[in-house]
Amino acid sequence: MAHLDENTIKEIKESNDIVDVISSYIPLIQKGKNYFAVCPFHDDHSPSMSVSPDKQIFRCFTCGTSGNVITFVQEYLKVSFIEAVDILAKNAGINVKIDKEEKQNPNKELYDIYKLAVAYYKNNLNSKMGERARKYLDERQLDKETIDYFDIGLSLDEGLVNSLSKKYALSELRKIGLSNSNNRDLFKNRIMFTIKDNNGNPVGFSARRYIENSEAKYINTMDSPIFKKSEIMYNFYRAKDFIRKQHEIIISEGQMEIIRMHTIGIDNAVALMGTSFTKEHFNIIKSLKCTVVLNLDQDDAGKRATLSIGDELIKNGISVSVIVYDGSKDADEYIIKYGKDAFISAYNNKVSFIDFKLNYLKNNKDLNNATDLSSYINESIKAINEIDDDILREIKIKQLSEEYGISIDLIKSKITNTKIKVKEEKKPALQKKMYNKYDKSEIRILYLMMMHEELIMYYQLNLGYLNNEKRKKLANEIINYYNTKKTFDISDFICYTSAREDLNEVMNEVLAFNQSEEYTDLELEDYCLRVKEYRVKMQIDTLTEKMKNTLDLEEKKKLGSRIENMKREVLKW
Ligand code: UTP
Ligand code: MN
Repeated sequence: MAHLDENTIKEIKESNDIVDVISSYIPLIQKGKNYFAVCPFHDDHSPSMSVSPDKQIFRCFTCGTSGNVITFVQEYLKVSFIEAVDILAKNAGINVKIDKEEKQNPNKELYDIYKLAVAYYKNNLNSKMGERARKYLDERQLDKETIDYFDIGLSLDEGLVNSLSKKYALSELRKIGLSNSNNRDLFKNRIMFTIKDNNGNPVGFSARRYIENSEAKYINTMDSPIFKKSEIMYNFYRAKDFIRKQHEIIISEGQMEIIRMHTIGIDNAVALMGTSFTKEHFNIIKSLKCTVVLNLDQDDAGKRATLSIGDELIKNGISVSVIVYDGSKDADEYIIKYGKDAFISAYNNKVSFIDFKLNYLKNNKDLNNATDLSSYINESIKAINEIDDDILREIKIKQLSEEYGISIDLIKSKITNTKIKVKEEKKPALQKKMYNKYDKSEIRILYLMMMHEELIMYYQLNLGYLNNEKRKKLANEIINYYNTKKTFDISDFICYTSAREDLNEVMNEVLAFNQSEEYTDLELEDYCLRVKEYRVKMQIDTLTEKMKNTLDLEEKKKLGSRIENMKREVLKW
């Protein structure tokens, strides 16, 4: 088994052709020697992302996202560098030993503790002391395999803190919510549902009582350095692959629903676990570019949550539908009571969000009563007004008109939607950034150096500096890289820059700005001249400032003639 060093990464990268990998996620169209795609990293409809099989890089000319095959997987699947390498290694059948926490993880110990806690609780469940809990789970129709698959365990009266404190500091156990301030177990006599972060590391628990008593039904881990409740959705780390394949995510409230859906073969589901729907959740879902199916509780609180989450999503152009059924509070209960087929059928018959909303508005209204009917129609028009899709809006207007005998004109007179979309939080469009001729020259020089390695020497001989500090730094890194490797491969170089905060931004700027790798000698000379010209300009500015500020006449004169000389020099270029 190979260890993950630079050469292994190179091998993994070379075994994964960028065109093959990207086209396994999004459609690519060949144009000339390059491939193009609608960029998945910003909201777009035209193919602004290009993929170069020669250079093994991709870049989007609109949002500026760029990189090699590893960067793509990282960005697309929202995983770390190590995980992306791991995925690509598997893809190519390369056997590497990747310790996910190998890379400077300041919280490694906290993750380790959680792993032990999960094992400890699982062991409890299997022990003699776990008999009653096992019976409870059996009554809820959870078999051994499912319990194991979801890492469900059991907390007893006492024991976890005692066991872990032999190896770890009590303060650490308190910090991650396993012990209370008296250094006693925080969770007692509960079924322990393991919560994993979006990378699959256990970071918290949702603990359910299984003995009827007056305690809260669930107690959950509080936020900690490794548990950020607002970002986590139960089962997301596993569901994400299914969501990508099916282009659809199901959102539920509780973990039991997710577990139950898994038992009937539905795996693209996540749960909010009693937390409200946060900005972070929203961003994750938006980046998935999938449709959303809301499957919250069928009670009034669940319906109100469905309305507010759905409103937020459709406002942002995400397509939303809702699973509705009668006779049970949630998916878990429904499947137990009516069976797999009944739920699948409810899933297949999900209603569009607007229909759900129009139906909800009827609640507590007597539509035979003129006042109620009028307020229903007004509220419905307001909802229809928010529909972004012209055709759908037209259909709904017609339906409302036919159903209640209100003229289409009247309804339309109240429709004000002129497609005022909520502002997209797009990545800034790099193209729109205005570069002057000096900036353009520097950016172009850097790009050509990376595309044609002979220009690295040319740069050193003919120019040797850039005026912009960040770009100068990148140029120096290119030279160092070339000197060490004796060759320059841009796709390898990206592995190096993407881990460097100070280089990453300027690198993306350079990659996204340049469209052509061709150049002429004349063009190159001109770029160099521009860079020099700008340097002299800056020097002249400094000297002029100095001249203005000096009271010494002799000095003033000297500075004046120096400036004149410099200006004359530039004119000769
Ligand atoms: P529900 O009350 O709908 O519970 O809460 P549930 O999922 O149906 O649970 P079971 O079927 O009775 O076991 C939905 C989710 O909200 C969180 C839990 O994560 C739960 O799964 N919750 C609920 C809490 O955090 N605290 C509570 O007191 C209740
Ligand atoms: Mn339930």
